[in-house]
Amino acid sequence: MGLEAGRDIAPAKGKLGVMLVGLGAVSTTFIAGVENVRRGTGLPIGSLSQMGTIRLGKRTEKRSPKIKEFVPLTDLKDLVFTAWDPIPDDAYTAAVKAGVLDRHEHLEPIADFLKGIKPLPAAFDQHYVKRLTGTNVKSAKTKRELAEQLRQDIRDFKKRSGVDRLVMIWAASTEVFLTAGPAHQTLQAFERAMEQNDPAVAPSMLYAYAALMENVPFANGAPNLTVDVPALQLLAEQRRLPIGGKDFKTGQTMMKTVLAPAFKARMLGLAGWYSTNILGNRDGEVLDDPESFKTKEESKLGVLEYILQPDQYPELYGNVFHKVRINYYPPRGDNKEGWDNIDIFGWLGYPMQIKVDFLCRDSILAAPIVLDLALFFDLAQRARLSGIQEWLSFYFKSPQTAPGLYPEHDLFIQQTKLKNTLRWLMGEEQITHLGIEYYEKA
Ligand SMILES: NC(=O)c1ccc[n+]([C@@H]2O[C@H](COP(=O)([O-])OP(=O)(O)OC[C@H]3O[C@@H](n4cnc5c(N)ncnc54)[C@H](O)[C@@H]3O)[C@@H](O)[C@H]2O)c1
Repeated sequence: MGLEAGRDIAPAKGKLGVMLVGLGAVSTTFIAGVENVRRGTGLPIGSLSQMGTIRLGKRTEKRSPKIKEFVPLTDLKDLVFTAWDPIPDDAYTAAVKAGVLDRHEHLEPIADFLKGIKPLPAAFDQHYVKRLTGTNVKSAKTKRELAEQLRQDIRDFKKRSGVDRLVMIWAASTEVFLTAGPAHQTLQAFERAMEQNDPAVAPSMLYAYAALMENVPFANGAPNLTVDVPALQLLAEQRRLPIGGKDFKTGQTMMKTVLAPAFKARMLGLAGWYSTNILGNRDGEVLDDPESFKTKEESKLGVLEYILQPDQYPELYGNVFHKVRINYYPPRGDNKEGWDNIDIFGWLGYPMQIKVDFLCRDSILAAPIVLDLALFFDLAQRARLSGIQEWLSFYFKSPQTAPGLYPEHDLFIQQTKLKNTLRWLMGEEQITHLGIEYYEKA
């Protein structure tokens, strides 16, 4: 297919079921946010799919439609939600406990709607998330049986809710650190491992497997290994389904992937980058466990190495001290504070410092990402894009890529990739920013 050919995209007709793994701070802020937007009591700020525009053609053409008018995305009114969680709280109770949204302004008016969303029993195992105990859990003799129960949940939800299409997003806790091993190499090995209750198969992989077996795209918002293994990637390709991850790119890492490319663009050196976070939500509590923190740490650390390319610029980036800490500090709740101390150097090696103190709200930053991922993964499926969706790296801290490719972390490269993919899907010209035609007239 030529570059400007475009794709036949199936229309977004009917309803889209969004299946969330985890009904905690991020999921409830997302669901309650969408419902507030639908009722006209809030704006979907932070969502590129809802607020963003896309330039088409030459600057002189002045064509910049909204993205949601340019590509056939599901309308917010057509979203239907369900979730799994080992904690039995319904979405209203969970949102109140998470303490992100104002109860009076954004939760009470939609209390009935939120109370109607009760979590399905989870495929949960404390071995993978040490700081949680759950009562709303499935039981089975083998992990394979658990996966089959999840598949049944998917079929039941589809029937019960009357949705036409589904997407699944992992917004559950960060699991302990795992690396890909023999159990993850082929589908046969993976299925055998599920039957033998191999510890290499984490609960998140069971959800991903169940989703793919039921023709549902799967996106991973946490840093867990999950679909970042050959067995599940092959399954996605075989079944022509979009997958992607890992780890929503929200606060500190988003800033890092804006600042580091700026230093590199100007050939400024970097001596060290010390990032520390204090947060007091349940995510912070889970990440207080060293094994879950290790998973998060890997995800947060990779970014600088890829952006700065120390092998190409040894004098500038050959000796960077990079440290990331997450400290559980209950008084802050979801309102995280992320501090960055950045030691850079310039002309003749003279040192300078930059301090960033980001008083952010974790779930307020994550909710629009969940929305965009749900809509774009559904679009990807309707456009028959399958396997890893690298064009959605914009949303992830450690984007998955095809084997052998290094990930692009620079936020603006990621944005260009995303928008050019939308242009390509719709048969519009790529924008290269060359612009010589405005000056060299024939
Ligand atoms: N908020 C952000 O800015 C941000 C950014 C990147 C990644 N994340 C990740 O998103 C995830 C959700 O964050 P949060 O703040 O909502 O956390 P949270 O602790 O409030 O919610 C996570 C929920 O997942 C549930 N859970 C755990 N294991 C499960 C399983 N096996 N099946 C179903 N549910 C399970 C927990 O009971 C909990 O209710 C975390 O992994 C976090 O690291 C968040």
